[in-house]
Amino acid sequence: MNVLVIGNGGREHAILLALRKSPRVEKLYCMKGNAGTAVIAENVDVDFMDREAVKNFALSHPEIDFYVVAPDDPLAIGLVDELEGIGKRCFGPRKNAAVIESSKAYAKSLMKKYSIPTADYEIFDDYDSALAYVRKKGAPIVLKADGLALGKGVLVCKTLKEAEDGLKEIMLDKSFGAAGNVVVIEECLRGLRYDPGEEVSALAFTDGKTIVPMITSCDHKRAYDGDVGLNTGGMGTFSPCPFWTAELQKEVLEKIMIPTVKALNAEGRTFKGCLYFGLMRTDKGMKVVEYNSRFGDPETQVILPMLKTDLMDIFEAVADERLADINIEWEEGACVCVVLASGGYPLSYKKGYEITVGDIGDCTLVHAGTAIKDGKLVTNGGRVMGVVAKGETVEAARLKAYRAAENIHWENMRYRKDIGIKYREG
Ligand code: AMP
Ligand code: GLY
Repeated sequence: MNVLVIGNGGREHAILLALRKSPRVEKLYCMKGNAGTAVIAENVDVDFMDREAVKNFALSHPEIDFYVVAPDDPLAIGLVDELEGIGKRCFGPRKNAAVIESSKAYAKSLMKKYSIPTADYEIFDDYDSALAYVRKKGAPIVLKADGLALGKGVLVCKTLKEAEDGLKEIMLDKSFGAAGNVVVIEECLRGLRYDPGEEVSALAFTDGKTIVPMITSCDHKRAYDGDVGLNTGGMGTFSPCPFWTAELQKEVLEKIMIPTVKALNAEGRTFKGCLYFGLMRTDKGMKVVEYNSRFGDPETQVILPMLKTDLMDIFEAVADERLADINIEWEEGACVCVVLASGGYPLSYKKGYEITVGDIGDCTLVHAGTAIKDGKLVTNGGRVMGVVAKGETVEAARLKAYRAAENIHWENMRYRKDIGIKYREG
């Protein structure tokens, strides 16, 4: 089969690396891709946010059998609907199901209606009522712009002043654009053992009938060591989550995952693809912090290397609604991804620096913001690449990843030094 993956980042490179292992996959394509995807796939220079352009490309390339729509934005505009409309098979939810990520207000109301555990909240579309509510509730409190905001539209406010300023920023100054027309104001959850609370990314494959959890992972969203600084797209991940247990998995399946799939079906929004549950362990059990309608980035970089089952088999089983028929298996051990970023990220940074790669042992470089310019590998984004290492334990894998990172260089490169340490129990 010939398969096209939509997206430009590390997640897409990781998906392509996993698909490449399938004996049934002949040729891979990536729209638009990066310097890493170009090595294993043909990069296609078409704007994937332009439904018409993607449709025309698909119509003129009948040799491509299957499409994987990986990022949130093309899912939110209905790229899967467009491709399925011309008879293409896809992995990824349709627009009406992807809304579980593209509208936080929708996600919250779904959870309320179907009693899925999450933080208490109210939704506002006018500033004065929102401000009155914030003043009534006091701090700490969490403000969320309703729409997609590159993972940056969430403000966890420790003081009332921060909350008042944040509300102004979202609703009046429109710092996150139209995403801030509606705001979700939430109770601030507290972790069972840590503050800020302990979070886990629990991803699952679902075809709308069956849901199969993947191995768990933990992200590091803040820019700097010790979880300080601005939120980013993710500075590193590790798998498995240290506090995950069989009991937690049972609780999450029964109280969160299965009810979510059923709720979406009941609403006529059957979800097929990767459903990502951002969860927090609280003193009142596991609660949903967010849903994503797609694979996480950089979670995918530590999950897919541990997958023993052929990813193409899983993608097809999801598309054909026969996920119950396949057995999904994972390797023992751990995996760590350290993201190497441009100096300045997540604020402004320069691109175009030459990247040199020395000895990285048996680690894998998963490219994100990279390009080839005048025959040289150069930086082309904020998160440039991830160093991915496997090991028997998270500690073994993280030491390997950091040894490799020392042998990769470009001007102003920076990375967090504490990936894989948090939530150690005992
Ligand atoms: P989100 O984009 O919804 O995942 O939010 C980004 C981050 O903000 C999460 O990963 C949490 O660390 C934090 N956060 C979001 N909602 C809450 C909440 N209700 N209580 C505490 N922290 C939260
Ligand atoms: N790593 C967080 C996300 O993909 O949303």
